[in-house]
Amino acid sequence: MKLADNKATLSFSNGSPSIDLPVYQGNVGPDVVDIRKLYGQTGLFTYDPGFMSTAACQSSITYIDGDKGELLYRGYPIEQLATNCDYLETCHLLLHGELPNATQKRDFTKLVTNHTMVNEQMQFFLRGFRRDAHPMAIMTGLVGALSAFYHDSTDINNPQHREISAIRLIAKMPTLVAMAYKYTVGQPYMYPKNDLSYAGNFLHMMFATPCEEYIVNPVLERALDRIFILHADHEQNASTSTVRLCGSSGTNPFAAIAAGVACLWGPAHGGANEAALNMLGDIQKQGGVEKIGEFIKQVKDKNSGVKLMGFGHRVYKNYDPRAKLMQETCKEVLHEMGLENDPLFKLAMALEKIALEDDYFVSRKLYPNVDFYSGIVQRAIGIPVPLFTAVFALARTVGWIAQLNEMIGDPEYKIGRPRQLFTGSTNRQVPPLAQR
Ligand code: SDX
Repeated sequence: MKLADNKATLSFSNGSPSIDLPVYQGNVGPDVVDIRKLYGQTGLFTYDPGFMSTAACQSSITYIDGDKGELLYRGYPIEQLATNCDYLETCHLLLHGELPNATQKRDFTKLVTNHTMVNEQMQFFLRGFRRDAHPMAIMTGLVGALSAFYHDSTDINNPQHREISAIRLIAKMPTLVAMAYKYTVGQPYMYPKNDLSYAGNFLHMMFATPCEEYIVNPVLERALDRIFILHADHEQNASTSTVRLCGSSGTNPFAAIAAGVACLWGPAHGGANEAALNMLGDIQKQGGVEKIGEFIKQVKDKNSGVKLMGFGHRVYKNYDPRAKLMQETCKEVLHEMGLENDPLFKLAMALEKIALEDDYFVSRKLYPNVDFYSGIVQRAIGIPVPLFTAVFALARTVGWIAQLNEMIGDPEYKIGRPRQLFTGSTNRQVPPLAQR
């Protein structure tokens, strides 16, 4: 970051001395007012719950322009990456800053492939869960449990440890998600197959059984790989910020990523893809397209607590570029599966059209986000609804670990420790029990 030729002056109406605060600028996007010395110089905190106006860090990984609906991974537009690259090339880009050449791609793919198995002991963690446990409950446990197996590489201040932990996490998430699924359907786990692609291997571990050969459908394989690319990273979203804050204590990367999994589960965040599909299913049950008007009315009624899941975004005040690409992938997969007339997809398209013409949504700049169509395409691939967010976590792991490693790799990083505006009881004496 570089010092802008602008500066901020904070003055006070009560006559307290004003202070100058430096303004820094990045390569693109809003400048920042550096308030690090504010408390020391004024005894004041800033107040920004939800971080509506706060840059918590500097980063060179992902840039979002919410007004333009632009998403860049290390400068490359998501549309180009989703069309011209595969997920592991994108992982290399996010982790190392550049797309791999052919040799680097071969070596990176081989490295990841050779780490896809998990310790045989991992399956005993699953046995503690009920068969109907939510996959995100299982994943939160399994990812945290990984830290029990890699005492050789949990020193996050060691760059080699950071590198191998990143590879292990990227490589093992598909295996763990597939195990979580197989456990809930009572089928045997399928081991990774090193002759399959990253997405093909996931499909195999999910849907193959020991009873017969499973042939990976190339259309589904490509669609899933694109879904992984679209979900790989997204700047300082809630779960990435959780991973950064958790990792800032010096904990091991597996524990920090487990914290990210837990945060992503929420319906306001990664859980929205499951919630969006359930929402479409409910509208369908109540009568489908004819019932959209009634549903929209509920959404507009603040007291209903009903939201249009898969719509709206803290940063995008335009169409989420990932939603457009996801819609295209939807069409490809539905065509391949002979589901062109899938009622939920038609319902989603109708709902989107109506919402984008309704002033309630237009005035609030509410557009479809990545979660609006991702559930429909995952369902068409055969992935069960409760597993959608686990697939999101699988894909986002590379973003989490890239952001964590960027933070830890910065010699200036400190443990994150926000303050508060205290509105509780001030100092008071404990009354004896008889007087309470
Ligand atoms: C992801 O941060 C990221 O980058 C996340 C993510 C990533 O890749 O990591 O992009 C992934 O989490 C996508 C978002 C998925 N969540 C949903 O689809 C859930 C539904 N969306 C909302 O919960 C909401 O839009 C949020 C949480 C996504 C954003 O909320 P904000 O930025 O805090 O906005 P807000 O709640 O202040 O809403 C502003 C207005 C409010 O109305 P008013 O009080 O101004 O009258 O818009 C309304 C809200 O009530 N609103 C919605 C709405 N989203 C916002 N009304 C109906 N349906 C919605 N979905």
